[in-house]
Amino acid sequence: MHIVFLNPQGNFDRYDSYWTEHPDFGGQLVYVKELACAMGKLGCKVDIITRQIIDKNWPEFSDKFDFYEDIENVRIIRLPAGPDVFLPKELLWEHLYEWVDNIMDFYKEEGGLPDFITTHYGDGGISGAMLYERTNIPFSFTGHSLGAQKMDKLGVNLKNIDEMESRYNFTKRIMAERIAMANSSLIFVSTAQERDEQYTHKAYIGAGHLNNMQKFHVVPPGVNTQVFSPNILDQEDHLAMKKLIDHMIRRDIEKSRQNLPAIVAASRLDPKKNHVGLVKAFGESLKLQEKANLIITLRGIENPFEDYSFVKKEEMEILDEIMELIDTYNLRGKVCMFSIGSQRELADCYRELANRNSVFCLTSVYEPFGLAPIEAMSCGLPVAVTKYGGPKEVLKDKDGEYGVLIDPFDEMDTASGILNLFSNYEYYKRQGIERVKSKYTWEATAKTYLEAIQKAVATKKDYHILPIHPYFISPDELDKIELDWLKKIYLRRD
Ligand code: F6P
Repeated sequence: MHIVFLNPQGNFDRYDSYWTEHPDFGGQLVYVKELACAMGKLGCKVDIITRQIIDKNWPEFSDKFDFYEDIENVRIIRLPAGPDVFLPKELLWEHLYEWVDNIMDFYKEEGGLPDFITTHYGDGGISGAMLYERTNIPFSFTGHSLGAQKMDKLGVNLKNIDEMESRYNFTKRIMAERIAMANSSLIFVSTAQERDEQYTHKAYIGAGHLNNMQKFHVVPPGVNTQVFSPNILDQEDHLAMKKLIDHMIRRDIEKSRQNLPAIVAASRLDPKKNHVGLVKAFGESLKLQEKANLIITLRGIENPFEDYSFVKKEEMEILDEIMELIDTYNLRGKVCMFSIGSQRELADCYRELANRNSVFCLTSVYEPFGLAPIEAMSCGLPVAVTKYGGPKEVLKDKDGEYGVLIDPFDEMDTASGILNLFSNYEYYKRQGIERVKSKYTWEATAKTYLEAIQKAVATKKDYHILPIHPYFISPDELDKIELDWLKKIYLRRD
């Protein structure tokens, strides 16, 4: 079986360059890479197709071909779309038609088309639909994050919709997602909640996917258990991490507290991750402060207590707020912040902190799935995680509880959830490790994808439901009418 992964945004290379350093280099890239590699291991021939970038600030992405060391059957193929330079995902839409042309030419030249295409995010989805229109190759859609929910979170309304549109290009995104939902033969979601609450949003009503609920497949993503494991992978790396943590604790934490466990937060600085909520909960709860220190890992910021003037505006605003809270609650000497680079380093950091009886906490306002908590669980850290979104299904089922769900908007609930972990430490640690082993491996994800794909290829059910919008074929055609369309479907009252 020859399977293509369409992922125009971000990029892929054998060093996982920029992961977590840029909003387009986050969980989705991890998902696509790991799933593609797991499918390669199952014997599929896999092509990850992304955008070619020739830009001195992003030098890793200029070659047409790339690969992952030690992984057979998987190619990374970069094809041009629009200008040479790096473009954030919000600006890719008008170049996708050209990208699809280049994909067609690539396979024509090589001889032979793939059997199935998996598409990722709205930009991959519309590209898959365009290819489907031209070749009839069936495709799947994995949304990762949907535009309508982002509009909800940003509080889009009649007053701000023009400004939001100019920044985020929601019209094209929602239209692309609708076309992908309508014409795909499979829709993969990570949780039932994602299917039932996100794909039924009023902005997607009428796209046709809800008349074909059998298209939906709930397939949780996995953890790279070779990296995120409770067992030390490399003694030297582990010792280096132990030294780093010792050093950082000595640098930031007051002497009498240096042997306390930690509450670890490890996401990128993004308002939706709500670091501020966690610092507030820590500041409000003296019990929590007696029990543990707070460790916040960062990317590329070595010592924010000294200097973070070089970071992006959005990150700076979050750090400003954290610093203010540290002063308001008198938390100096109780909070430690330092930089962690690769996934391997992060896993070593989790393992070392687990040795120190620490816990992981994620207070996001919303998590579509929440890969980070299961990575932490897999390394032996008990977790307290937002109850909004996917974690609800990950951390609880009819057989038991695998971590603690917290309300990120309620500091007392967050604090008591974390204290609950400390009181039942060994229980939650064991539950977390077992949960990942039994349910969240990429091999399991790949097998479930493949089963559904094989069925879709065999039945070749025709899904030409929503025609591709002319905008995606002739990018010059976009005018104001499009925004009126979005206003109608998004702001309508039910
Ligand atoms: O990991 C980052 C990321 O996964 C994107 O690549 C992804 O698709 C996105 O988060 C969320 O996008 P948005 O904020 O546009 O909904």
